[in-house]
Amino acid sequence: MSVKRSSIHGQWSSRWAFILAATGSAVGLGNIWRFPYLTGENGGGAFVLVYLLCVVLVGIPIMMAEILLGRRGRQSPINTIRTIAAEEGLSRHWHLLGWMGVIAGFIILSYYSVIAGWTLAYIFRTGTGLFVDADAVYSKQIFTELISDPEKLLAWHTIFILMTIVIVSRGVKSGLEQAVKFLMPALFILLLVMVGYAMSTEKFMEGITYLFVPDFERLAEKNFFADIFLPALGQAFFSLSIGMGAIMIYGSYLSQKSSITFNCFTIAIADTTVAILAGIAIFPIVFTYGLEPAGGPGLIFVSLPIAFGQMPFGTFFGTLFFILLMFAAWTSAISLLEPAVTWLVENRNMTRVKATALAGLIAWSLGLVTVLSFNHWAFSFTFAGVMKENGLFDIFDILTSNILLPLGGLLLAIFTSWLMSKSSTVEELGLGDSRAYHAWRFAVRYIAPFGVIMIFLNAIGFFKLLGFN
Ligand code: PHE
Repeated sequence: MSVKRSSIHGQWSSRWAFILAATGSAVGLGNIWRFPYLTGENGGGAFVLVYLLCVVLVGIPIMMAEILLGRRGRQSPINTIRTIAAEEGLSRHWHLLGWMGVIAGFIILSYYSVIAGWTLAYIFRTGTGLFVDADAVYSKQIFTELISDPEKLLAWHTIFILMTIVIVSRGVKSGLEQAVKFLMPALFILLLVMVGYAMSTEKFMEGITYLFVPDFERLAEKNFFADIFLPALGQAFFSLSIGMGAIMIYGSYLSQKSSITFNCFTIAIADTTVAILAGIAIFPIVFTYGLEPAGGPGLIFVSLPIAFGQMPFGTFFGTLFFILLMFAAWTSAISLLEPAVTWLVENRNMTRVKATALAGLIAWSLGLVTVLSFNHWAFSFTFAGVMKENGLFDIFDILTSNILLPLGGLLLAIFTSWLMSKSSTVEELGLGDSRAYHAWRFAVRYIAPFGVIMIFLNAIGFFKLLGFN
């Protein structure tokens, strides 16, 4: 049976519009802010290696599954899954998976926006030359001042949510394409400039070694599943925007003719390249200026400004860098809100503008928790062998990246590869009954579920029970 639906929310103008938008969703704070600090917290090379494996073996196949579902259902993720489940004769409860994604989206956006707010603040801090000749102590002090002031954090958070609401209320398609077309390449070039600077620092090789050479001694002290694999897998989901419906809703605007496989590889390669470049730019600076790689969420905000303060035209490059990072965060934030908005339009008969305002308000309110996590409500705890210092922010982050997104991905993988009929997925992927199709199916049927299930089993202490560490 061939399904020919169209989305009431519109369609991308071309395949490249989709690739750009999805890359805009994938490339964001996850690559430049989260990837380096997790790498630092989890000891470098081994984490990076496992991360890359997770992207290839789990991330890309699940991304393909998500786009396949989105394009077939052509509605909000909740209704897409409901429709496809009905067509395939499956339980109607599957639509709860869509709900889980919407909830994950709200939680992620709520803290994502606060961090994006730091980026906004840093545009002005760098732009006014605050970091000229700054040393590590001074840079740290500026950062601490910012995060210990809830009023400032709230103001920037509010501005960022409003910016997100403006774009989503106009429909993610208008404007986004233009924005991403210029800003992504610009960000990329600026990252290369940063890498260039990093190469001139004393400890460039130390940074590279840290990033790419697994330290086996350190690895032996760690629990592989909980301390390396779990955060790496979570980061793969977070960075590729998968497991919650963001890529699914973008897939629902994709033309029937476009190749899902080609698109996914392009998006994943772009996303991974940006993360690796960010790592190459940051760690040499971290080591050269004697910063702590495991410095936590402040890592790039403390380390990069020191470099801007030293390099020629640093104020200019620094300002530009934070502007571009802000745009990268913006194009990701809109994809976090879009699934909820489309559902409100479809099921609550709201206009797009009203739906966006309501969804934005929910995310904004939830963001207050993160605002306070860095100051009044701060508390610390240990997770995966790492000391986390920002209580509820860290809990939100761990809950979404390490639990909700992988669980969402696991269920999506099971849904598309075990429950949907093979003919439906063959038809939608457009690869025929080829080798490529079978490789995809094997990955979503076995590899992805195996990886996620191992982690969850480990989390509930299953391996300890069997006598493994
Ligand atoms: N992928 C985005 C980033 O790396 C964050 C994101 C996660 C966006 C989940 C949408 C869905 O910054």
